[in-house]
Amino acid sequence: MKFRKKLIEVALPLDAINVASAKEKSIRHGHPSTLHLWWARRPLAAARAVIFGQMVDDPSSHPELFPTEEEQDDERRRLFRLIEQLVEWENTTNESVLTKARDEIWRNWKATCAENQDHPHSTQLFDPEKLPIFHDPFAGGGALPLEAQRLGLDAYASDLNPVAVLINKATIQIPPLFANRPPINPRSREQHTMAHKTWRGAQGLAEDVRYYGNRMRSEAEKRIGRLYPKVDITEEMTQERPDLKPLVGSKLTVIAWLWARTVKSPNPAFAHADVPLASSFMLCTKPGSEAYVEPVITGDRYRFVVRMGKPPDVAMNGTKLARGANFRCLLSNTPMSQDYVRAEFRAKRNGDCLMAIVAEGEGSRIYLSPTEEMVQLAKSAHPTWKPEEDMNQDTPNLVSGRGYGIKFWHELFTDRQLVALTTFWDLVVETHDLVKHDAFAAGFAPDTRGLQNGGSGDTAYADAIALYLAFCVDKGTLTNTTQATWQRDPDRLTQAFARQALPMTWDYAEANPLSDAGGGLAITAIAVAKVLERLPTQATPAHVIQADATSETDMFRQFDMNTSAAIVSTDPPYYDNIGYADLSDYFYVWIRRPLKSIFPQLFETVTVPKQTELVASPHRHATKQQAESFFVNGMTRAMHRLAERSHPAFPVTVYYAFKQSETESNGTASTGWETFLEAVIRAGFAITGTWPMRTELIGNLKKNVGALASSIILVCRARGIDAPACTRSEFANALRTELPLALKHLQRSNIAPVDLAQAAIGPGMGIFSRFSRILDSEGKPVSVRQALLLINQTVDEVLAEQEGDFDSDTRWALSWFEQFGFEPGDYGTAETLSKAKNTSVQWMKEAGILDKKMPGSKVRLLRPGELSSDWDPSNVPQLTVWEMTHHLIRVLESAGEIETARVFAKIGSKAEAARELAYRLYSISERKKRAENALSYNGLVHSWPEILRLAHDGTLHEPQQAGMFA
Ligand SMILES: C[S@@+](CC[C@H](N)C(=O)[O-])C[C@H]1O[C@@H](n2cnc3c(N)ncnc32)[C@H](O)[C@@H]1O
Repeated sequence: MKFRKKLIEVALPLDAINVASAKEKSIRHGHPSTLHLWWARRPLAAARAVIFGQMVDDPSSHPELFPTEEEQDDERRRLFRLIEQLVEWENTTNESVLTKARDEIWRNWKATCAENQDHPHSTQLFDPEKLPIFHDPFAGGGALPLEAQRLGLDAYASDLNPVAVLINKATIQIPPLFANRPPINPRSREQHTMAHKTWRGAQGLAEDVRYYGNRMRSEAEKRIGRLYPKVDITEEMTQERPDLKPLVGSKLTVIAWLWARTVKSPNPAFAHADVPLASSFMLCTKPGSEAYVEPVITGDRYRFVVRMGKPPDVAMNGTKLARGANFRCLLSNTPMSQDYVRAEFRAKRNGDCLMAIVAEGEGSRIYLSPTEEMVQLAKSAHPTWKPEEDMNQDTPNLVSGRGYGIKFWHELFTDRQLVALTTFWDLVVETHDLVKHDAFAAGFAPDTRGLQNGGSGDTAYADAIALYLAFCVDKGTLTNTTQATWQRDPDRLTQAFARQALPMTWDYAEANPLSDAGGGLAITAIAVAKVLERLPTQATPAHVIQADATSETDMFRQFDMNTSAAIVSTDPPYYDNIGYADLSDYFYVWIRRPLKSIFPQLFETVTVPKQTELVASPHRHATKQQAESFFVNGMTRAMHRLAERSHPAFPVTVYYAFKQSETESNGTASTGWETFLEAVIRAGFAITGTWPMRTELIGNLKKNVGALASSIILVCRARGIDAPACTRSEFANALRTELPLALKHLQRSNIAPVDLAQAAIGPGMGIFSRFSRILDSEGKPVSVRQALLLINQTVDEVLAEQEGDFDSDTRWALSWFEQFGFEPGDYGTAETLSKAKNTSVQWMKEAGILDKKMPGSKVRLLRPGELSSDWDPSNVPQLTVWEMTHHLIRVLESAGEIETARVFAKIGSKAEAARELAYRLYSISERKKRAENALSYNGLVHSWPEILRLAHDGTLHEPQQAGMFA
């Protein structure tokens, strides 16, 4: 087979991908991630760029077309420009950009097929009329198969988790199945005959989701509206709250009822009283609109009164004394320890008390004192059904594992919430029948086969709408739960799963699911419809199944892809980071009720299958070691399957998230990371590239230098059967020979200094994994851990060697900085060091690097902020790299990128050395734990491309426009 290196094995426009990925996080409307919650979704921008980079050849693979390095660079730049367009969120529906990308993929594919016609399996593997299929066996929220589909590939997605399977069905299977069909609901049908509107893509589906979602809300209103009454603003209320005067006579919709949990007082004198566990009495802390509750105590009773205006200091902490479950009794001030509170809950002596009501005003929230009537109304709700399944008791990620005696999923909901949610789920089932009827009336073929059995007639359409409506209700469970709390500024409802956990909540907000505020059913239907309207529909419907990626069994038979080799890009679980199965039971126990009859195979088990989930969670295994070996063995099996099934012309890409807390000081070692690499290599892969991807917003990144790239993408190829063995010292030599160039490439691509050590693992592991075995002097195999340590050590040496390129003052300052940072040191030491580096302390004082005001016996390097602001590089005869670097940082930190670019332009081409020095100084600062310095060096490299762009931008030289009143 002719082997061509793909673009992703050589270069990627990382900056553009990272910026687009970070921007995508702030997109709310219409983003596929808003269809249904899934944890740790990959950004679509990164997924799209990676699959594209995996499918097109690197220009260096075609010396016949691009014989010189310059020509290859030009061609690479052309591909980069296309990727830069491709990753923009605005272009996810831009057919002209997408067509360019698809054409590029096809052009490369046809060329690959043409040169592989003599391959023994050419008809199966190299059909120029059919692109290879795409498969992600850990599909999760579906970002990767969705982007493969958008790029024109036939997408296959599998996941062990039924909820993930449903998300993939909803995203990539259903929309193409019903593409370009008009809506079937009676209202649109009438309008359609009148207006002859053309319905493109999934617009028809979206319209039906809106219509039936709204209809469900109206039906629910009839059934349970009495539980969610409006509040009358009366004259009487204005006695305590004169601000309500203009509202007297109006009826306001309630957005939420704010409750605090209670336990019995520990004080014997009040032992009969239920006292609140309120983490705060504040309702709104927005300056100028402050609102709070004041507890009014009479003997052994208390009531809450809502007050507006500046709160007393005590309001901030409610009855909370310290972190965790440490409170005080409101009536007696007696402290309540964590143990006491836990014991009260376990004995079921807990309850709830209403602290305030939030109603919808004109453009603002209206906070009202609780009433007995409202309390009684809430208590009048009696659920006829509730999810009785157990929550896992062993993990602290779930409130059930925190020792409060909370055991069942239904305990996360109030009775009124249980009634509302059950009503909605019943309505999903009823609406299914109605949609089937309407679909038939609208011309859908009668077909008893539903989605599960490959149908596409009236039943399948009803199944599809029921699934989207079920997702609307699922979204509703995020706010209609005691996990939802009230945020104080801006004042609004929060949702469950702010983190990848379900913690204990002390006070919670009970939302009104019939209102049009967050959590309302009609609003969620609109949000789901918005996503649908933007989904690609021109490809063939994706193939989505539930399957265990680690099992040897029937995944491929189920998919009927026995003979097909796939392009693989995947994002497996990250060691013990997220317990998907445990968390997703939150949805599963509800959604199973309306969808079990539609997808019977997916809902065979009472809760989400857990045993084979590839997570190293100690609570499922007797020991940590057993958890680790379960993970490594399972991951190796999964990687084996990938290696066997992947198309030989393309590398496989595997995402791996990096967990900050697991890292050691060198930023590259962690059990999860090592175990994962071990599995990849054991499975027979050689690593041909690694790309650190960032998805945080840049602002945070600059402030948080310690934050590592959010994930690493490994590019892998099957290791040749003829891979040689070698010794440890041969491996070390290969690292020393090959890493310097690899690091230079990484630095030129402006990798963030904080990511350099991680990124260097790629080329390092590339060398490690190209050998079948590496043996140490005792004949024992070198482990991944040992290899990682050797790679880190070599990276450090290579960076130190780069110092040789700097001028003597800079080399002196580097050595001094390593030892003292910007703190003073002895003059004698400085002198001795200066002799070794061929410079003098006096010269460096004159060059303005050293503090002249220090007493004679001491020497100190000047911090960037202390350097002279009159500095002009054009007047300095012999610029040192140290000086340039620190002046650039001074200007950057005090005046921003435009001013820095002006200085940069004056320095000219010599400035490049400043970036190299910044990498070196970053690595020293990180090692010496000088976070503030590290931040400055990282910041300079981070801003480098923009400074460069501005410095070469003609407008910089034009005189600055005078201010309007200058
Ligand atoms: C990191 S997530 C994938 C996220 C996805 N790329 C996205 O953007 O949303 C890993 C997935 O692996 C799935 N998983 C865990 N163990 C599995 C197994 N044995 N077989 C198949 N899937 C598994 C989890 O359910 C989870 O959805």
